[in-house]
Amino acid sequence: MQMRTVLTSCALVLSAVLSGGANAAEGAAAAPAGASPPQPTPAERAIDYRKAVFTVLGGNFGPIGGVLQGRMPYDAKDVAKRAERVAFMAGLAAEAFPEISKTGNTKAKPEIWTDKEGFDKAVKTLADSTAALAALVKTDNTNSAAFKAAAGKVGEACKGCHDNYRAK
Ligand code: HEC
Repeated sequence: MQMRTVLTSCALVLSAVLSGGANAAEGAAAAPAGASPPQPTPAERAIDYRKAVFTVLGGNFGPIGGVLQGRMPYDAKDVAKRAERVAFMAGLAAEAFPEISKTGNTKAKPEIWTDKEGFDKAVKTLADSTAALAALVKTDNTNSAAFKAAAGKVGEACKGCHDNYRAK
């Protein structure tokens, strides 16, 4: 009996974690006692996933941007680690725009899906610039002009896509 209670509360915690805090709290108030909270729709999941991917991308590019702007010292180990992650996350970002995620609580503009060619180019610019930065810092681990140029290109890739495909 006690074991069962523990298992049940584990399952509840897990489903709350998987469905996202805010929705789970709303659902808990509305749902009858004992019922599980409503699950997010596939579209909501896809949008949450995309935001999470960009949050991690941004979280890892941030310190590189800080070095670029002279706000942070160049720490070779940290820069190398983050450059790797940013390049990896660029691949996930490319896959984060399925058709079902067009509408909902999102800043993704409809042009992402209507101007496929332009958007694919923006995605490729991110992939290419982040791969180039990750490759560079493997051989040049100093705050060199080459590093600044490569990191700057990544920053331009972010901005270029946001200007055209992300709502304010
Ligand atoms: C190919 C287009 C594209 C590129 C390139 C891009 N972004 Fe974005 N980014 C978006 C879109 C679209 C959104 C809005 C996502 C949503 O609301 O569903 C977004 C959202 C974000 C967010 C907010 C996430 C959230 O929680 O709402 C951050 C942070 C972010 N991007 C950082 C970056 C950084 C840093 C880079 C460059 C390293 C970058 N992005 C490159 C398209 C792009």
